[in-house]
Amino acid sequence: MTPDPRTWLITGASAGLGRALTETLLDHGHRVAATARDTTSLAPLKDIYGQHLWTAELDVTNTVRLRTVVDTAFQELTRVDHIVSNAAFGLYGAAEEFDDQSIRAVFDTNLVAPIHLLRAALPHLRRQRSGHFTQISSAAGQTGMAGASVYHAAKWGVEGFFESLHDELAPFHIGITLVEPGTIKSTFFNRLRVSEPLDAYQSGPVGELRRYLAQPDTVTANSVGDPKKMARAIIEAATAATSPRRLPLGSDAFTAIDEALTGRITEHRAQHATAQTTDH
Ligand SMILES: NC(=O)c1ccc[n+]([C@@H]2O[C@H](COP(=O)([O-])OP(=O)(O)OC[C@H]3O[C@@H](n4cnc5c(N)ncnc54)[C@H](OP(=O)(O)O)[C@@H]3O)[C@@H](O)[C@H]2O)c1
Repeated sequence: MTPDPRTWLITGASAGLGRALTETLLDHGHRVAATARDTTSLAPLKDIYGQHLWTAELDVTNTVRLRTVVDTAFQELTRVDHIVSNAAFGLYGAAEEFDDQSIRAVFDTNLVAPIHLLRAALPHLRRQRSGHFTQISSAAGQTGMAGASVYHAAKWGVEGFFESLHDELAPFHIGITLVEPGTIKSTFFNRLRVSEPLDAYQSGPVGELRRYLAQPDTVTANSVGDPKKMARAIIEAATAATSPRRLPLGSDAFTAIDEALTGRITEHRAQHATAQTTDH
């Protein structure tokens, strides 16, 4: 853990990993701008940590409010060294089962909001000529899974967006880390949105997983990642002299990403000869 106190801004600080990050940072003497849709649950932390905790109500899909909160945080706290874009939720079902509104909500929360958060912070980070942006992606950002196509698509989206920004922001000394957790013992599976089932999918992999996810407490009990340990790893990575571009967290994430990348490189190389035939 870094010895020098820094200032962090976190979205989705009310629960799960965002909450664990907030508490861990405060415990280690850092200052935290904790944002949440409802900040009531942060009140007990305010009693303990006082001035070290700055809070603001923020639904990340409200892009006007997002910009105001970011501007106000930089203004009132003078500087923000680290931003952690964490807020997100899961959507489960077959692609054919999803309603339009749920698909839009996943992309608005899990992909569009992180893009706007970075854009809102950039003028301030450029002025500071330093800062680090941590995007909580997922092992889902490197893999695919029947029943979670839209969630995975949004996480692949953040991977593509932030991958492109390393070189774009390097001249301003702004770093980017994509965190790729596996399953976490958080409240994620209790908040999962689930599609209306179609009979056609009940006997296949979507139906099988649907029946498992119908018991969120069991799913959470079977989840591998400890949010407090993940929080510590994220803080260490973000404050390292050289931060990693990607940080897989949890043995399940490491294995799933390893298998996906190995499979992809094999598939990719199998097309080598064909690729050579299409040059002009
Ligand atoms: N749990 C997993 O197995 C897992 C695996 C890989 C990656 N992740 C990623 O890890 C991150 C944290 O997830 P978690 O496991 O800690 O889930 P969680 O316990 O459900 O917490 C999610 C947090 O995001 C907030 N949030 C959701 N929608 C929001 C919105 N529109 N505006 C503001 N805040 C919003 C929630 O706030 P409310 O209290 O207002 O709902 C909550 O604080 C997410 O990016 C998730 O995709 C999770």
